[in-house]
Amino acid sequence: MRPQLADPKIERRIDELLRQMTLAEKIGQLVQYSATEERSAKTSAVNTAALNVNPPAPGGVDSFKLAEAGELGSMLNTVGQEITNHFQHAAVDHTRLHIPLLFGADVIHGFRTIFPVPLGTASSWDPELISALAHMAASEARTAGVNWFYSPMVDVARDPRWGRCTEGAGEDPYLGAAIARAYIRGYQGEDLSAAGSVAASVKHFAAYGAAEAGRDYNTTDMSEIRLRQVYLPPYRAAVEAGAATVMSAFNSLNGIPATANPFLLQTILRSEWGFNGPVVSDYTAVMELVRHGIALNGATAAAKAVTAGVDIDMMSHLYDAELPALVKSGRVPVGTIDEAVRRVLRLKFALGLFTQPFTQGSEVTNAVASHRPLARRAAEESFVLLKNGDAGESPLLPLPKNKKIALIGPLADNANDMVGAWSGANNFGDVVTLRSALMEHAQQNGTTLLYAKGSEISGDSEAGFAEAVSAARAADIAVLALGESSDMSGEAASRAHLDLPGNQQKLLESIAAIGKPVVLLVFSGRPLVLDWEASHVAAIMEVWFPGVETGPAIVETLFGDVSPSGKLTMSFPRAVGQEPLYYSQFPTGRPEQFPDPAHPGFVETKYVSKYLDVPNDALFPFGYGLSYTTFTYSNIKVSATTVSVAMLRRNQKAQPVNASATVTNTGHRRATEVVQCYVRILGASVEQPVRNLKGFMRVTLDPGEAKSIQIPLGFEELSFYGRENRPVVEPADYTVWIGGSSTAQQSAHFKMQ
Ligand code: GLC
Repeated sequence: MRPQLADPKIERRIDELLRQMTLAEKIGQLVQYSATEERSAKTSAVNTAALNVNPPAPGGVDSFKLAEAGELGSMLNTVGQEITNHFQHAAVDHTRLHIPLLFGADVIHGFRTIFPVPLGTASSWDPELISALAHMAASEARTAGVNWFYSPMVDVARDPRWGRCTEGAGEDPYLGAAIARAYIRGYQGEDLSAAGSVAASVKHFAAYGAAEAGRDYNTTDMSEIRLRQVYLPPYRAAVEAGAATVMSAFNSLNGIPATANPFLLQTILRSEWGFNGPVVSDYTAVMELVRHGIALNGATAAAKAVTAGVDIDMMSHLYDAELPALVKSGRVPVGTIDEAVRRVLRLKFALGLFTQPFTQGSEVTNAVASHRPLARRAAEESFVLLKNGDAGESPLLPLPKNKKIALIGPLADNANDMVGAWSGANNFGDVVTLRSALMEHAQQNGTTLLYAKGSEISGDSEAGFAEAVSAARAADIAVLALGESSDMSGEAASRAHLDLPGNQQKLLESIAAIGKPVVLLVFSGRPLVLDWEASHVAAIMEVWFPGVETGPAIVETLFGDVSPSGKLTMSFPRAVGQEPLYYSQFPTGRPEQFPDPAHPGFVETKYVSKYLDVPNDALFPFGYGLSYTTFTYSNIKVSATTVSVAMLRRNQKAQPVNASATVTNTGHRRATEVVQCYVRILGASVEQPVRNLKGFMRVTLDPGEAKSIQIPLGFEELSFYGRENRPVVEPADYTVWIGGSSTAQQSAHFKMQ
């Protein structure tokens, strides 16, 4: 549903409202606060103390009074039927024009039935799953009065030092775009006014994930080609899928803060992409224009933001404070305000708030039992099996059921960290921990389970080591649950080191030294450096932060009821010094090795682009993930050996090339593979990466089953951004790989001419 597709009847109602609105009422629609209000006798009968309402800071804002005066347009993270209806009654019943409020909230991986962090669900490469999860979250949140999500976060992230990579889909624009579309479908459905739909807010526009040095909020700077080819595609996909709103980012881009950047907010977002929904600033981002140094005061910050195209000021207290005088002085045309108000009202009509502003029915306050299976499936599909047995040895996983297992580590019996960043109400009691699920499994299957925490997540205490070593000695297999705490990723959570925090590696070393088989489960919000682990531990699985179904999902996977199918969407480095690290690198004039034409037979490996101390490639690359079976690829073909440039330029809808391959399950159990298609362009006017993802699909095969897959390639997949910063095709040589990761070797070729 694209609320932006103006409905003439609605537009006439908006015109009528605009004619009646005072300037204060118009500006009120552009103002967003969380719930604050004076607790006093005159406040409505509802006990605001029970509504978790914060009193306004001294000299602060009383959002309830603003709502009663018709000078508040939307609220931030004000959640719950009672409190949202409380404020909605103020806005609808007590005001002249009865304009309802929007209620926005940070729901990015579940509302009350929390599923894996987005970097985890992205590792499923399963857009249909993601749409179903998004719809589930929307259905739950609407019962609590929330009708707008500050989600999906689609920032491409290529540096895991940046903690917010946990909130997105990783390093690749093609996958990021597919996942962005999936979220919009799931959140908004076909009708924004439906009980299971909320307005999405695609964020953070734009290129927030390119923060220099992986330090959150830091500056971003890149060529327009890089911006358009790598960072913009997921936002564009979300807008084309009908995203109802966009959130402007904190970062500056090429010297202009995104929240006052006409190139982003006008030229690209509105003129090129035709977006005409509201743009909301990030939290106090309008005020932060003063800190960025492009505004000497709040009035200039407000003027620059609203003129650039930010319609709603989230929590800066500047639009309400400064816009009246700016409009009266003519510094901001009233037409600018009217257009912003129109976009906000259009969304409120599309959400059905003018006909049904209040929330009724039973409110979802905790994880919903009937929603747990989907959350569990999401967790199972998010796990990425990074290693399963050393070379030449039989796989360690899945585990046999009748063994003695020592479960060790600070993440094993830990509910709080299983929900990851942005987990809403933090209903930790909803979480089934790994230990509790393993205990239940042990009772049912005759497995003996020993447990020792071993260490904390952070710190250097070894007080628990002896107990852990003793448990491991007494067991057949040690399962280590190690990793980050959930607050080590997310907003303002960048890390300069990417190792296991604290002394967890030392704990692992002491367990590994015993010589028993070790399974390492890595709980993290980002890629970590697992270099030591990869050469000393038999099996390693990245489980991210799996959500309320952590325990059952891991147990089902450990014992083989489910085979892992996840594939990495961010490269795992060998060392943090490699960052930013991503598979679609550029070749440079001195790739890691190359034949020297001046010396036939000689391969240059010294004067090349490399480190002296670490190989260039990732420890575990983008698109990589193991299964409990094996898959082989054969018959990689393309349906054409030459493609006409002129034809494709004329007909950008054509798909002149079909890439195909045969995938075979060569193992002993049914499982799912994520088939990936990568393309390289050689000979173009602009240097292209060594390969780019241009297609993928999930394929489930029985043992011995083979399937032919087809991936169509058209203008979208075969073009690149040329020197004029727009997508072009040129005569060039194309290589197409199809395989189970970004290191796929089997390829086919064709010429564009
Ligand atoms: C935060 C985040 C943004 C979030 C907003 C509202 O600072 O940057 O992602 O939606 O403020 O909480």
